Amino acid sequence: MPSDRSENVRPRPRVLVVGFAGHQGKEYLPIVRESADVVGGVDPAPAASSLADESGFPHYDTLGEALESADFDAAVVTVPHSEHFPVSTKLLAHGRHVIKEKPFAITEQEARHLIHLSQKADRSVFTLLQRNFSPVFRFAQENLARVGEPYWFSYDYHFNLAHPTTGWRASREQAMGGVLLDMGYHLVDVLTGMFPEPSRVHSAFVHHYQEMRDRRLEDLVSLMCSYPSTGLAGSLRVSRHNYEKVEHLCVLGTKGALNVTPGAAVLHSIGGLPLERRTWKGPKTDAVRSMIAHHLGHLNDHHYRQDHLRRQLAVVRTINGIYRDRLREQDRLADRCA
Ligand SMILES: NC(=O)c1ccc[n+]([C@@H]2O[C@H](COP(=O)([O-])OP(=O)(O)OC[C@H]3O[C@@H](n4cnc5c(N)ncnc54)[C@H](O)[C@@H]3O)[C@@H](O)[C@H]2O)c1
Repeated sequence: MPSDRSENVRPRPRVLVVGFAGHQGKEYLPIVRESADVVGGVDPAPAASSLADESGFPHYDTLGEALESADFDAAVVTVPHSEHFPVSTKLLAHGRHVIKEKPFAITEQEARHLIHLSQKADRSVFTLLQRNFSPVFRFAQENLARVGEPYWFSYDYHFNLAHPTTGWRASREQAMGGVLLDMGYHLVDVLTGMFPEPSRVHSAFVHHYQEMRDRRLEDLVSLMCSYPSTGLAGSLRVSRHNYEKVEHLCVLGTKGALNVTPGAAVLHSIGGLPLERRTWKGPKTDAVRSMIAHHLGHLNDHHYRQDHLRRQLAVVRTINGIYRDRLREQDRLADRCA
């Protein structure tokens, strides 16, 4: 059984990596090891055991085995969406901090339950969202007030996958949503950091592939968002089979505009004169490194935890509300056709 752990996390926390043999888990592993001691890894994939051997930590097929044998402060969780909730609740029930991939939760109810468990156990649940650690997105956030009263935004994020999605993303049971829940989560998080929650969202879901339509996994989503008691409105478009990869956020305000791409954020005056620019050449791993180090360094920071949880609840509520509205719409149509 694990020994008693002190309230304060040591300078180099002990970390369990859950889902470490997958795409994201492998990308994070060397970066996590820069700021933490990896004391074990859970992953049922056939390749996981040899990867753990090569990396020099014990391998467990299930989280239950790891909880019985390994002593750790926090877990870094990179599993398919369907596994997030059972894995995170189990970790919290055993008094461990959770640093997890997006989405924070699928439904508002699950999000509230995670927050409740986090408060009860006095443990953090942090969601990994690298744009919050990118210098250009930080510049945009910090300089938003300089555009005056924002009245419009448009945010486009498109991927250029040449084939239908594969693996868990192609399975309704594991992905639990299409591009909105997957790539769209990052963008809704960025918008939630800048604006209040939208009071109304109109959505269009589009499918490139028939099998994705059959599985209700949207390949493209277009949202039109309206906001309470302000003149603000905005549009968000996310897709995964575009002809090129693009990300572009533009905010228009009464005193100027912000124009953000992954490589540069520019603050413009009315009329378009560039006032200030922040460029960033990456690499992306720099943002990931500071994100992981930051979360590991703030496991017991209650203010940071509260702010983070509040924001993630808002992101989940927005996305969950859009899916719920669509289901209601489909039910209404089915009733009308019956
Ligand atoms: N931030 C980003 O840019 C980004 C990019 C890709 C993926 N992701 C997120 O990362 C997560 C994983 O995606 P991926 O592409 O790495 O998936 P993946 O399929 O490549 O890896 C998932 C791994 O989890 C393992 N696994 C499944 N169930 C498990 C369980 N109960 N316990 C332990 N391990 C389990 C699988 O065996 C697999 O090795 C998702 O939440 C996804 O949204 C984020």
